[in-house]
Amino acid sequence: MERRHLAECGSTNTEALAHLRDGGGPLLVSASRQTAGRGRLGRAWLTDHAGDDASLTFSVALPMSAGLDLSGLSLAIGCTVADVLDPAGERIRLKWPNDLFLDGAKLGGILIETVPLPDQRRGVVIGIGLNLRPLPPEADRSAFTSGHAALQALDPAATASATLDRLAPVLRATLADFETLGFAPWQAAFARRDLAAGRRVRVGEQTGIAHGVSPRGELLLATTAGILPMSGGELSLRLE
Ligand code: BTN
Repeated sequence: MERRHLAECGSTNTEALAHLRDGGGPLLVSASRQTAGRGRLGRAWLTDHAGDDASLTFSVALPMSAGLDLSGLSLAIGCTVADVLDPAGERIRLKWPNDLFLDGAKLGGILIETVPLPDQRRGVVIGIGLNLRPLPPEADRSAFTSGHAALQALDPAATASATLDRLAPVLRATLADFETLGFAPWQAAFARRDLAAGRRVRVGEQTGIAHGVSPRGELLLATTAGILPMSGGELSLRLE
C-alpha cells in the first residue's frame, strides 16, 4: 500500500477521498497537523499539535466493491487497532460504533466515508485519530473527547511513525478479509472489548440494555419491545 505523509492538511480523509476520486489505488495518508479534522455526525476533530508525536491522524483509502455491506467495518477496524495497541485485551475497549476507549476515557475514533467510483466500485476511506499524549487542559471544552486517554499510557515510547508502521499492514489485512468475509469474523473479538455490554444505553430515541452486536455489526438493544438491531450510520450510543 502506498504511503504518504503530509506536514499539514485540512483533513486526511479529504486527501484520501480526492485520491480515490482521481482513480488512485490503496493509500495510507497521514498528517502531522490537520486544520479541519472532522469526526462523525458533523463534529470537528481537534488534536494537540504540539509536535509530531502528540497525536496520530491518518486515513486509509481503498477502492472496494460497491455492493459490500460496510455496517460492521468500523467495528472490525476498531478491533484490529485495539489488538495491535493492547494485545492482552486488558485496557482498550470499543464503544459502538466507532470509539476507542482506554481505561474508561476516549482514546480515539474512526470516521468512514465513501465516494462512488466507476465500474461497480466504491471508494472507502477509513480515518483514524488517536491521542498519543494526554490533551492539554484547554482541550477539555473541545469537541474532541470526553477524556484524556493517551496511547503513551500503554507504551511511553510510542511515536506516531512507529505506531503507524505497526498498524499499516494489519489494517490492510483486515480490509482484505472484510471484503471477502464481512464483519462476522470479528463479532467475538468485539464482544471481548464491548464497553457498553450489559449497560443501560441510549441510541437515538431508544433506550435499553446493550446486548452485543449482530454478525452484521448492528448494535442489539434489549428494550421492552424486544431486541432491536440498530445500524451505526447516523447513530451514537450514550452510556446512561
Ligand atoms: C469520531 O470520533 O467522531 C471520529 C474521529 C475521526 C478522526 C480522524 S483523524 C484522521 C481522519 N481525518 C479526519 O478529518 N478525521 C479522521
